[in-house]
Amino acid sequence: MPYKITEKVRLNPVTWKLVLEAPLIARQAKAGQFVIIKIDEKAERIPLTINDNDPQKNTITIIFQEAGATTRRLGCLKAGDVLTDILGPLGKETDFGKAGRVVLVAGGVGIAEILPVAKYAKREGNYVLTIIGSRTKDLLILEEELKRYSDKLIVTTDDGSYGVKGLVVSPLKEAMASEKLDLCYCVGPDIMMKAVSETTKPCGLKTLVSLDANMVDATGMCGTCRVTVGGKTRFVCVDGPEFDGHLVEWDLFLKRQKRFIEEEKRAAEYFESHHKDCIYKR
Ligand SMILES: Cc1cc2nc3c(=O)[nH]c(=O)nc-3n(C[C@H](O)[C@H](O)[C@H](O)COP(=O)(O)OP(=O)(O)OC[C@H]3O[C@@H](n4cnc5c(N)ncnc54)[C@H](O)[C@@H]3O)c2cc1C
Ligand code: FES
Repeated sequence: MPYKITEKVRLNPVTWKLVLEAPLIARQAKAGQFVIIKIDEKAERIPLTINDNDPQKNTITIIFQEAGATTRRLGCLKAGDVLTDILGPLGKETDFGKAGRVVLVAGGVGIAEILPVAKYAKREGNYVLTIIGSRTKDLLILEEELKRYSDKLIVTTDDGSYGVKGLVVSPLKEAMASEKLDLCYCVGPDIMMKAVSETTKPCGLKTLVSLDANMVDATGMCGTCRVTVGGKTRFVCVDGPEFDGHLVEWDLFLKRQKRFIEEEKRAAEYFESHHKDCIYKR
């Protein structure tokens, strides 16, 4: 069944929001879950978080950053175009409930992935402190939307062009020193999630991370998304994507995330030679 794009919005130079007709997924999706999309018959399958769902309008929203060949092709599509396949909702839903004082930490396109978690956290009656970071002001997304679901929102930029200059870890450390926090939830670049987990571990602040592992089948069969958590093998697609950040074997995970670099490079070169024109038309 083809899935129609009903709306396309540019959020920053490299990030897009797509609203898609997907009635069954729209009815079932929960915070923390994701879909696997395939642009056409021959396309690669990629996982993307369900940023929002509207059972009345039969739509789901995805937000993605152009990283390589597939996300750049996706950025070339327009409202009215269709995707061949969307599989979901996949993964376990967020279920930390009323944890108390929750700090949400997100960076880059992880800011899009944290929005449904922020809505969930507020709905469950938590105090929500949100810390979001981007490289520059131009790349920051969804600040106003996140404010709606946060008691307090802190923005950082690496270059100091907006908010607090520096990385998300600094305001997180300050918050940990000045107030009692019950739960940290983090999503963003792998290296950021590792740094946040290392920051919260010494004082025992429970930390959930949502891992953006490479995936292929997303059914727990192929092993691509394998991660070691607390000494046990887990699969991000079926056991995750949320895990205890203090138990993830980060160095192994970071190493595994790099193992398709050559293939990704070849796919990007193929995109440049076959589809580059679409970038200038949109
Ligand atoms: C559960 C889950 C939810 C996700 N949700 C979102 C989302 O909401 N929005 C979004 O933009 N992305 C999300 N991702 C990441 C997204 O799947 C990848 O960016 C995408 O697969 C890249 O495909 P590509 O062909 O465009 O780039 P590739 O050619 O595969 O990669 C290009 C470059 O991006 C890097 N890259 C590739 N995959 C990832 C990754 N998973 N994490 C970090 N860097 C990566 C590569 O190292 C490489 O440098 C999610 C991943 C998972 C597992
Ligand atoms: S993607 Fe194949 S096991 Fe998770």
